[in-house]
Amino acid sequence: MNDHIEKIAEWIVRSRSIVVFVGAGLSTESGIPDFRSPGGVWDKYDPEDFYFHNFMASETSREKYWQMATEMYESMKDAKPNDAHLAVAELERLGKLDCVITQNIDGLHFKAGNSPDRVLELHGTAMHVTCLSCGRRYPRDAIQLRIAGGDKAPRCDSCKGPLKPATISFGQAMPERETAEAYARSTASDLFIVIGSSLVVHPAAQMPVVAKRAGARLVIINRDETACDELADIIVNGQAGPVMAAVLEEVKRCLDTRGQSKG
Ligand code: APR
Repeated sequence: MNDHIEKIAEWIVRSRSIVVFVGAGLSTESGIPDFRSPGGVWDKYDPEDFYFHNFMASETSREKYWQMATEMYESMKDAKPNDAHLAVAELERLGKLDCVITQNIDGLHFKAGNSPDRVLELHGTAMHVTCLSCGRRYPRDAIQLRIAGGDKAPRCDSCKGPLKPATISFGQAMPERETAEAYARSTASDLFIVIGSSLVVHPAAQMPVVAKRAGARLVIINRDETACDELADIIVNGQAGPVMAAVLEEVKRCLDTRGQSKG
């Protein structure tokens, strides 16, 4: 493992454009379950119930959706960034990060200190709610208060359209700007680091493939196997927090040594 940590750190120090791509595995150490691990979200809920066409189908399915979404939000709203989030934010401060492409909806990158213009939320965010008819935006907590007050499937104050957390459900259109920028930055990267994703959900899981095809080095840090392991230059099967903390420490040591050698 240490050899891998040193090599990843060396690549980070020498790279020009680094993209970090993350999934739910980045946030499990913050107390938010991932989706496909034992005890994950899809162990508890049927993913079919999360399809966009179901949400649009009926008031009953919207009520069911909001019940599930409320339980998921409870696990996220007070969560704190862990060492892996903090390491990614520190890479930005060290000038060693082009952007974070995230599949996560928990907003923890911002709590960790990443700049909003460096984070591409491919699957939207659970931190606010949008009207699907007029696009009006609401703070999540305000809508959760309505739900707690008995409103099982809230509607827009302006147009009475259905409200939905601003997350991208299966079968829902991907956010255009974020998706286009994610492809462009993945293609332009020379080091692509995946942290905590099974890489089975598309088009997000295309990004490491696009980066590798364009010549980037591909590093995967994930507790279990992923669908892109065969493409990887380095795989570290470990916990994201301790692994990224060790990588960051090594990056700083290398930068110091370089600083001294340049001193
Ligand atoms: N450190 C490293 N890896 C971890 C950790 C951890 N602490 N905890 C979990 N993992 C790994 C798991 O082994 C798993 O392979 O993270 C991966 C998480 O994979 P998924 O649960 O499939 O989550 P993700 O890849 O983000 O899912 C993609 O699917 O359900 C949809 O929209 C949802 O954005 C999500 C998308």
